[in-house]
Amino acid sequence: MKPAGHLQIAPSLLSSDFAALGDAIARVEAGGADLIHVDVMDGHFVPNITLGPPIVKAIRKRARVPLDVHLMIESPDLFIEAFVEAGAASVTVHAEAVVHLNRTIQLIKSFGARAGVALNPATPVVALEEIAADVDYVLVMTVNPGFGGQKFIEPVVPKIRHISQMVRERGLPVEIEVDGGIDEKTAPLVVAAGARILVAGSAIFGKPDRNAAMEAIRNAVQVLNA
Ligand code: DX5
Ligand code: ZN
Repeated sequence: MKPAGHLQIAPSLLSSDFAALGDAIARVEAGGADLIHVDVMDGHFVPNITLGPPIVKAIRKRARVPLDVHLMIESPDLFIEAFVEAGAASVTVHAEAVVHLNRTIQLIKSFGARAGVALNPATPVVALEEIAADVDYVLVMTVNPGFGGQKFIEPVVPKIRHISQMVRERGLPVEIEVDGGIDEKTAPLVVAAGARILVAGSAIFGKPDRNAAMEAIRNAVQVLNA
């Protein structure tokens, strides 16, 4: 794991060519990707369907960096073990999808993975109050989950600041990850608010030169992250 405060870029494979995932991974790793973000959707929690543990296992064989698995699914408890076995280093569940969040977080940890909680744009910070001390990171959604290439929801930025302040005041080693509409323009806003793990899909895979796209995001936040 990188030291706290270090900026990490997590390209989201959702916007890559699914027929050439190995190539997509190799290219972003060559450009310095810190994590590979894998979006799992079930057609119930979000109005889209993507992939399951067999594909994560195939991705794991090609990736050298850790796999950051974002579960946008109902009843994640049923699948957490399979995703960790398939190679997930970190597993994120949505606060809105889970009834017994404490149990789910402990379950992720029991399989040896890092555990994170995601909050949709409309979910308030109070949802984290009683679980913040148990999670390794919080994923703040800056779009409504389900699709790549959506517009960044700027009013979420104060929520990132609020969470950052809360974990600092409590002295918790909780990192803040952001996901949705992150590019060289929005990255400085979320980093200034306290985010340190940046997921980006279309801003990387939508560009012909992925290295340049990642570099542009890093350069945009360089001053803030110095
Ligand atoms: C959206 C996913 C994101 C998505 C982000 O529901 O969780 O990870 O790939 O895509 P961009 O960066 O294009 O908004
Ligand atoms: Zn995601």
